[in-house]
Amino acid sequence: MSNAKTPVTVIGLGPMGSAMAGAYLNAGHPVTVWNRTASRAEPLVERGAKLAATPAEAVTASGLVILSLTDYAAMYAILDGVGDALAGRTIVNISSDSPGKTREAGAWLADRGARLLTGGIMVPYMMVGTEQSYVFYSGATEVMDEHRDTLAVIGRPDYRGTDLGLAQLWYQAQLNLFLTMLSSFAQSAAMLESAGVKAAELVPYATETLNLAGFFLEPSAQGIDSGDHGDQGANVTMMGATADHVVTASEEAGIDLTLPRAIQAHYRSAIERGHGRDSWTSLSEVIRKP
Ligand SMILES: NC(=O)c1ccc[n+]([C@@H]2O[C@H](COP(=O)([O-])OP(=O)(O)OC[C@H]3O[C@@H](n4cnc5c(N)ncnc54)[C@H](OP(=O)(O)O)[C@@H]3O)[C@@H](O)[C@H]2O)c1
Repeated sequence: MSNAKTPVTVIGLGPMGSAMAGAYLNAGHPVTVWNRTASRAEPLVERGAKLAATPAEAVTASGLVILSLTDYAAMYAILDGVGDALAGRTIVNISSDSPGKTREAGAWLADRGARLLTGGIMVPYMMVGTEQSYVFYSGATEVMDEHRDTLAVIGRPDYRGTDLGLAQLWYQAQLNLFLTMLSSFAQSAAMLESAGVKAAELVPYATETLNLAGFFLEPSAQGIDSGDHGDQGANVTMMGATADHVVTASEEAGIDLTLPRAIQAHYRSAIERGHGRDSWTSLSEVIRKP
């Protein structure tokens, strides 16, 4: 049988799991699905997926079982009752959680004779299966190698190493950037809204600022990696004063201060620790050792 026809089971049919199952159907794989709320499987069944009656039936249907759930607790809720069905299976859990939880899950599955590959998908559901889609994976190299081609259907596999926690560490590090960016966009929009400006007007300016941020990353990484925080023209005192001004501007706009106060706290700590004349990259020292 060619890799393109490897049977795949997808458990969890939210927007992401449904998109993954859809990508496998498009690629001609036999697809079995299961979801706690069975009605969510209907559009996939209409396209040719087989709906398993129970999680045990779903796990038994394919050697490769992909989980797309809210968190790892949902995995235990579903798989705890499947008995011997897990033995010999490969579980690829592409659900969000902490690295520690994924390592615990590896031991739990190993006790039941199953192998775990952990994953974190880095695109929104509507981009699954496109060229932009990529997925961080970690776990045993042989498991990755065995399933690499089949997993490539949903996105480019980006294998991070054997430690099961690595995929989620990378995923959450990226999501930290993404979520902070979204919250700061909402904050900036609220600041401007106090002057009657619509968020739509902010978009091209915000995009330019985010692109500019890319320009800072490489020299910043050098400072963070080396611990050399020589002033490159953006020292803590100057940047910290601006962080204070963002708080004051938000206060004057009468909006929430949680995010700007968190940033302000980083700069204040760095100044307290004597980094006032150092580059802003010395914030990494405050973050590493709170
Ligand atoms: N949506 C995206 O664009 C996107 C992008 C990147 C990563 N992700 C990640 O992909 C994963 C799935 O996302 P999603 O958007 O598809 O999420 P979702 O709509 O919240 O779907 C979650 C799935 O988990 C199931 N579930 C949750 N708790 C359960 C439990 N205790 N027992 C059994 N089933 C349970 C739900 O079943 P029911 O249908 O019965 O509720 C549903 O199938 C998440 O980890 C998310 O962080 C999503």
